[in-house]
Amino acid sequence: MSRAHTTMKVFGDRPVAAPVGAGDTTDDQRPTMAALRLYARACEAATAGITVSDCRRPDLPLVYANPAFLRLTGYALGEVVGRNCRFLQGPDTAQPGLVTLRAALRAGRDCAVLLKNYRRDGAPFWNELTMAPARDDDGRLTHYIGIQTEVTARVAAEAALHRANAELERRVLARTTALTAANAALAAAQYETLDRLARAAEARDDDTGRHTARVGATSALLARELGWPGAEAERLGRAAVLHDVGKIGLPDGVLLKPGRLDAAELAVMRAHTTAGAAILAGSDQAVLRLAEAVALTHHERWDGAGYPRGLAGDAIPRAGRIVAVADVFDALTHARPYKAAWPVAAAVAELTRQAGRQFDPAVVAAFLALHARRHRAGAS
Ligand SMILES: Cc1cc2nc3c(=O)[nH]c(=O)nc-3n(C[C@H](O)[C@H](O)[C@H](O)COP(=O)(O)O)c2cc1C
Repeated sequence: MSRAHTTMKVFGDRPVAAPVGAGDTTDDQRPTMAALRLYARACEAATAGITVSDCRRPDLPLVYANPAFLRLTGYALGEVVGRNCRFLQGPDTAQPGLVTLRAALRAGRDCAVLLKNYRRDGAPFWNELTMAPARDDDGRLTHYIGIQTEVTARVAAEAALHRANAELERRVLARTTALTAANAALAAAQYETLDRLARAAEARDDDTGRHTARVGATSALLARELGWPGAEAERLGRAAVLHDVGKIGLPDGVLLKPGRLDAAELAVMRAHTTAGAAILAGSDQAVLRLAEAVALTHHERWDGAGYPRGLAGDAIPRAGRIVAVADVFDALTHARPYKAAWPVAAAVAELTRQAGRQFDPAVVAAFLALHARRHRAGAS
């Protein structure tokens, strides 16, 4: 029996494989033996598994295993000493921890890995293995020390947490998707309501033409042409359909009169701006606040000669200036009880003539650019 593999009684009655050099002792080695007993006692008392393999022999056989390792794995000491520790492993020989462990063993480095292992009775457990090389006085690798800690409960808790997180993420996504759909439905319902309100207001003087819808669409296009962000331009399109909502309260005698209005009738007609603004006032919805501004100001003129307040230039909200152009163009190019539809070219000429007078020149320029592009696209 070689010195490295004799057994000795280190603590109590339990035989363990003797550490290297712990064979026969002389008197002057006694203090060393006392220290060794103490260290062995520490290993025996540890709650983590502690194992030592001999690196100088082929296949790294175990020369020491503490009681905690035997309790953890279910093996008896005699069943493990002299064997490579891979008896703890199952079919998964390519698990990531093992790949790391093999590389560390080849390089003589320390490492800490998580391994799926199996007890003697076949029950699996998770083993957090810390490996440390031990060297002799000449720096030669002689042993490897392994410390095994069971972390099955932790791994299970982490897996449960992972599953719970994944489930939570799934639910949040489902809720967000549902909310997004609900928001979209709500916005669609809101816009449809605005549109139907606009239809109700125009039903008496334009029951088929859908003037309001066309003014809305043209206003949105003009806003885009003037550089408004997409969402704001779309909002203006939605708001603009309500520009004449105040006409809902006009008496038939004024609204439907085929001939010229006298001064009193004109005043009643003009009041549709303030009446519309009053209907829409006080909302905290951006689209309705915009609609209120449009209803109030779409008959103001750039030169200050418009109504109801005679605002001029930049004092007129931009939304009102845009809708004014869209409104007049649509009114000119469609028939009314008191006038025929103008040809588009004549209406465009009229807008051009009114740039800087009735209309904001920048809005007219945007209209002309848009019109020219549409004309070219239509011609090609
Ligand atoms: C001291 C020591 C303790 C070890 N402890 C374990 C262990 O608890 N569980 C395990 O799966 N492998 C353990 N190993 C690793 C295996 O014994 C083996 O060396 C490793 O799987 C590489 O061999 P292989 O290429 O045949 O897989 C230990 C190795 C040493 C040197």
